[in-house]
Amino acid sequence: MGPKDIIVGLDIGTTKVCAIVAQVDQEDCVEIIGLGTHPSAGLRKGIVVNIDETVRSIQHAIEKAERMAGIKIEETYVGIAGGHIFSTNNRGVVAVASDDKEITADDVERVIQAAQVIPIPSEKKIIHVIPSEFIIDGYEGIKDPEGMSGSRLEVKAHLVMGSFTVIQNLTKSVEQAGVDIGGLVLEPIASAKAVLTHDEQELGAILIDIGGGTTDVAIFEHGGIRETFVLPVGGNHVTNDIAMGLRTPIAQAEDIKLMHGCASEALADQSKHIELPDVGGCGIHQVPQAILYRVIESRMSEIFAMVNEEIKRLGCSELLPGGIVLTGGASLLPGIQVLAEREFNFPVRIGYPENLGGLTDMVRSPIYATGVGLLLFGIEEIHKTENKGFKSDHIMTDFIQRIKDFFGNMF
Ligand SMILES: Nc1ncnc2c1ncn2[C@@H]1O[C@H](COP(=O)(O)OP(=O)(O)OP(=O)(O)O)[C@@H](O)[C@H]1O
Ligand SMILES: [Mg+2]
Repeated sequence: MGPKDIIVGLDIGTTKVCAIVAQVDQEDCVEIIGLGTHPSAGLRKGIVVNIDETVRSIQHAIEKAERMAGIKIEETYVGIAGGHIFSTNNRGVVAVASDDKEITADDVERVIQAAQVIPIPSEKKIIHVIPSEFIIDGYEGIKDPEGMSGSRLEVKAHLVMGSFTVIQNLTKSVEQAGVDIGGLVLEPIASAKAVLTHDEQELGAILIDIGGGTTDVAIFEHGGIRETFVLPVGGNHVTNDIAMGLRTPIAQAEDIKLMHGCASEALADQSKHIELPDVGGCGIHQVPQAILYRVIESRMSEIFAMVNEEIKRLGCSELLPGGIVLTGGASLLPGIQVLAEREFNFPVRIGYPENLGGLTDMVRSPIYATGVGLLLFGIEEIHKTENKGFKSDHIMTDFIQRIKDFFGNMF
């Protein structure tokens, strides 16, 4: 990295867009120098449904971040999530090319390419190819094979795919907002970079980012990603349940959730009541605190049950010595940790972005896990480019270029 490189994470969430600007020095110290957030419009369940509204939200967030950091943002690392995401694991195998059988960067590149040769569902495009381990002549568990010797190089890789149309609309929105995309990153992979410790990733842990419209999950094992998935449910469903169940407008339901919410009915004070405005806006009515907590608890347990079912379906429930780390805005609900421990039967903690310098207080919230993770991902990508001469996430960069070429001046 240069003496003071600028990296920007752009999290286009269902409830807010945030741009986080960091300055990185040669010792890799990450100093947060700008944060711009703006309520998001134009997204539903993590997916762009209105480009113009999304562009405006992005522009507002970028402008605020630029003002705070005192710089012009040109390139960002952008998060992607939503129910269109599909992940799978695959292997690639190549023969080592050189006569002396020393594995080169080119062999590594070829084996990663080979791991992508699978039948891809129509309309899906590859977003990530993440090597979890390399195998040289049958010896497993190798993290960096370059420079080692062998004849047969294999890779186990995690492939993440998304809908071409959804990716295209997201890409268009960012480009129209006037910034370039350094890379698209699956949101739970980004959030995990910001909140999981090295030990958790090595031992095996599950990152669950509960946002407004999606719940994003990444499962780690031996320091690599084993599985990822995205469910189209989140904190906004809790708000809707409060509005519907307790007969109050959505905006007030959100306020009541933030001010008085709790995800565990057992923690309710049976003598307490909460005042709620009527739907028509004319009067107010009271509901027992226990009822509010019950509405929140039942939706959150349903979300956890859906996550747990998927974890079991993927055969990952045994991989949990590192436990579960909850992040995203909905993880700020009091009582959520106890509820999650009961549902998953594993230790649970709430993940906050850590180990940063600069304006850390501003981003030390689960709400900013994805934004911080995106810029950390960007820093890693730049290192890989510097060290190896190519981006590990080259596929997505090529893909964005192909979309640009295809749609020409529509961008
Ligand atoms: N203090 C809080 N207590 C309870 N819930 C909260 C709190 N703060 C935020 N939330 C909820 O978190 C959700 C927003 O979280 P977040 O900012 O992580 O979502 P997002 O990134 O915009 O959406 P997504 O990732 O789903 O696209 C909303 O449902 C909001 O009500
Ligand atoms: Mg989010």
